[in-house]
Amino acid sequence: MDADPLPPLGAYDPETLDQAFSALREEVETSARALAGPELFRLRWLGRKQGRLKLLSDAWLKEAPPEARRTVGQRFNELKAAIEQTLHALEQQGDASALLGESIDISLPGTAPRLGAEHPLMRTMQDMVQVFERMGYSVASGPEVETDFYNFEALNFPPGHPARDTQDTLVLANQERKPARERLLMRTHTSTVQIRTMESQPPPVRVVIPGKVHRNDESDATHSPVFHQIEGLCVGTDITFADLKGTLDHAMRAFFGPAVRTRFFPSFFPFTEPSADVQISCPFCGGRGCRKCKHSGWIELLGCGMVHPEVFRAVAGKQPAYDPARVSGFAFGMGVDRIAMMKYGITDIGLLYSGDARFLEQFR
Ligand code: DAH
Repeated sequence: MDADPLPPLGAYDPETLDQAFSALREEVETSARALAGPELFRLRWLGRKQGRLKLLSDAWLKEAPPEARRTVGQRFNELKAAIEQTLHALEQQGDASALLGESIDISLPGTAPRLGAEHPLMRTMQDMVQVFERMGYSVASGPEVETDFYNFEALNFPPGHPARDTQDTLVLANQERKPARERLLMRTHTSTVQIRTMESQPPPVRVVIPGKVHRNDESDATHSPVFHQIEGLCVGTDITFADLKGTLDHAMRAFFGPAVRTRFFPSFFPFTEPSADVQISCPFCGGRGCRKCKHSGWIELLGCGMVHPEVFRAVAGKQPAYDPARVSGFAFGMGVDRIAMMKYGITDIGLLYSGDARFLEQFR
């Protein structure tokens, strides 16, 4: 039994006494719950040598100045009565469970608290972001509810451009009265933050943008209307396609392992020119072909390209240093969900959004 000493009382005015005694009342209640059985409770409070009540009597009652002795004594008696009442209740409880044949089996396993685990998506995102942080990139974010301007127009998807159809967009209702570029929508990609970043700072920039995006896609094993991307943007003077290749090649090897190779294919995005799709050699089979790479030896992982002059022009109004004649840059974007699924062998994207603890607990 521990005998934590009672702190000296210091003063004997009604307020101090109120506080001191109500703290003790609380202590009585907590210890009734915490101590295993009435006998331990009795020892703690009423034990003849080390009981709390004895300590209290020594430290507070006997030390009280004559004029306070009456009130302290009164409160002392009230506390004592409360302790005795609690003890009585504890004893009755004990009797009742003895009657029912219940006793505490201390060999039973305890109730383990359920520990949380980092979500596989967040872990993947964090790991990938770290690869770029080590290359001197900073991290930015932007809103998920965006204007048409940031999601499309500034990225060189003018109104009516067919490339808009590749991103089935969720738009907010009742926006018709606004000018087209101010209408709100759920961002379909993180490329929006390329524009926001350049508007807010002059070159050079090196930034990665992890975030959530939304599309009007039917859910199935590989599609979810909510998913995650990591965007990258690097702008400076004399940034070339060779820098883009070197950066992504390094990043993929840092993330998937040093044996992984990359290859680039011509592609199209309105906001990059030239544009490319990037494949990596399958990190699971080393490129020999397996189920994960659908026996092709390669996995398509991201889109990229050199920042289109029109994109620089869209921000040059606010940051004149983004003059396409003076700066150049590259951008890239990758889907985090696919990478996480590949890395952890998850075959249904829906599991990432199910909030099912049994699924998540596997990633501890
Ligand atoms: N925003 C594109 C998408 O969601 C991905 C992308 C492609 C981002 C090329 C880029 C890029 O920055 O250069 O489909």
